[in-house]
Amino acid sequence: MEKWPRRPRLVAGNWKMHGTPGEGASLAGQLASMLQPGRRAEIALCPPFTSLAHVAARIERTGIHLGAQNLHAEPKGAYTGEIAGSMLASLGCRFVIVGHSERRHGMGETDADVAKKLHAAQRHGLTPIVCVGETLAEREAGQMAEVLVRQVRGAYDGLEPGAARATVVAYEPVWAIGTGKVATVDQASEAHAIVRETLGRVTSRGLGADVAILYGGSVKADNAAELFASNEIDGALVGGASLEASSFWRIIVAAEGGA
Ligand code: PGA
Repeated sequence: MEKWPRRPRLVAGNWKMHGTPGEGASLAGQLASMLQPGRRAEIALCPPFTSLAHVAARIERTGIHLGAQNLHAEPKGAYTGEIAGSMLASLGCRFVIVGHSERRHGMGETDADVAKKLHAAQRHGLTPIVCVGETLAEREAGQMAEVLVRQVRGAYDGLEPGAARATVVAYEPVWAIGTGKVATVDQASEAHAIVRETLGRVTSRGLGADVAILYGGSVKADNAAELFASNEIDGALVGGASLEASSFWRIIVAAEGGA
């Protein structure tokens, strides 16, 4: 795997269950044509499995990374409907999202499952984007920090520092995902600082200074610049606004320090 920079600025589009392979290829092609030379942010597109190959063909040699939305922890076997990390790597994936809240809360994924997937991703040379975040009920009960510590600990416990360094975290408060209710910069910064501190405690001191922590949850073209102005926020995991080339592009421009 090519060397991964320290705390890279990264904007990743999570397309979720949207688009045919043709639509995905067209969106990727539009983004590729908008690329400016001398970009300062890393860009990743995470289409549905069925569109990976088509999107890969459109972003070849553009510097845009390919990512998947999930993987199975086992390398192969009788797991009907599942996809292994080696399959994703062979299609050119660089990233894979693990522990997205829609999988934790919708498909019953546990912290232990997330840890296994993190390990599996790394075995296949994929950089995991590890999602953590509290529900509204947990926030209102004053449990935000406790949930984040538990989720980070669950995913990273026992991981050696080199491996932990080759990961990305996405703080995605569940109440902000797909709701149009973005966290305030203060709320996101506070949560990111907790994640950073926990990474340092669970794996090795100072690790939090090396790992990029993205914010996710209703990031849009018109709120991105404000979020990226925080030193705690290294980029974004974008759902809805990544489905349209111009809105995703404006988020990338904001991440690069443009307006
Ligand atoms: P959203 O999704 O930007 O549509 O809120 C973010 C995510 O779920 O990763």
